[in-house]
Amino acid sequence: MSEKIKKIGILTSGGDAPGMNAAIRACVRTGAYLGMECVGIRRGYQGLLENDFIELKVEDVSGLASRGGTVLYTARSAEFATPEGVKKGAENLKAAGIQGLVAIGGDGTFRGAYDLSKEGVCVCCIPGTIDNDIACTSYTIGFDTACNTAMEAVDRIRDTMKSHERCSVVEVMGHRAGHLALNVGIAGGATGILIPETPVDLENHVLARIRKARDNGRTFLLFVVAEGAAKAEDVAACIRLQTGIETRVTVLGHVQRGGSPLVHDRIVATRMGYTAVKLLSDGVTGQVVCLNGDNYFWTPIEEAVKMKKGLDEEIAVILDAILTGC
Ligand code: F6P
Repeated sequence: MSEKIKKIGILTSGGDAPGMNAAIRACVRTGAYLGMECVGIRRGYQGLLENDFIELKVEDVSGLASRGGTVLYTARSAEFATPEGVKKGAENLKAAGIQGLVAIGGDGTFRGAYDLSKEGVCVCCIPGTIDNDIACTSYTIGFDTACNTAMEAVDRIRDTMKSHERCSVVEVMGHRAGHLALNVGIAGGATGILIPETPVDLENHVLARIRKARDNGRTFLLFVVAEGAAKAEDVAACIRLQTGIETRVTVLGHVQRGGSPLVHDRIVATRMGYTAVKLLSDGVTGQVVCLNGDNYFWTPIEEAVKMKKGLDEEIAVILDAILTGC
């Protein structure tokens, strides 16, 4: 029988997300509860290659649940993307006596974890990204807080657009995924939403909606655009040119990734952190902790990295009904 894990490493990698700190806190507290030593690996896989390790005790994570960002820092590592880099990472863990790893992040983080698992490293992943683009789980840590941050901005923009009877194009994050744009657009009462999953059709998705909104007596307009679908500036230029309507642009940018996590993200992060460490303690490895409804479960990383998250068909239909009702 394999030896019980007594020392674990924790890292965050890729784009940070509100709630990552709450997950780190939960991992350390659960580890201590189960009699494990915890080590923070700073700057993700790059820090692993550089042996950038810090001891993490229960008192070190006190007060972390409410803090945005990640106290372990995060980075993207070109060296770790090579087979030699992965081998070196596995050797560094072994040399430090770290028998299990919790990797918190998005799909790139999972691919790194999968590569390490093939080198014999015991590893479990926690999904943390504001993009909510991981197929094996319905939710990734940070999504709700980012949606709320962006929605609050959209609400404010709508107030001033209404007052001036203008059009506004708001660009939100999401290079390859439109989940954030969809949620923010629906919740913020957008006239139209552009996402990377659907080919952008300015005539139907923007200009036709403007005509309809105008016919219905609407005097202000608001479009939410995911950064991977189109540049807000280009959409605005098209609206100005084709309709003559005064159109302003707001690019929300990294403001969406920062800030104190909302309660949902704190709770999900805490439960996922607990589950990941418990799995390692029970000798279960190579898994991604997932959530579906209220049900926490796990999926092999090997399967998770092959899965592609599509759009929620129902939300696309609802969206059409809601937006064309404008
Ligand atoms: O965290 C995910 C994400 O926000 C994407 O939506 C975005 O395209 C990307 O990260 C940008 O990351 P960075 O500015 O750190 O390169």
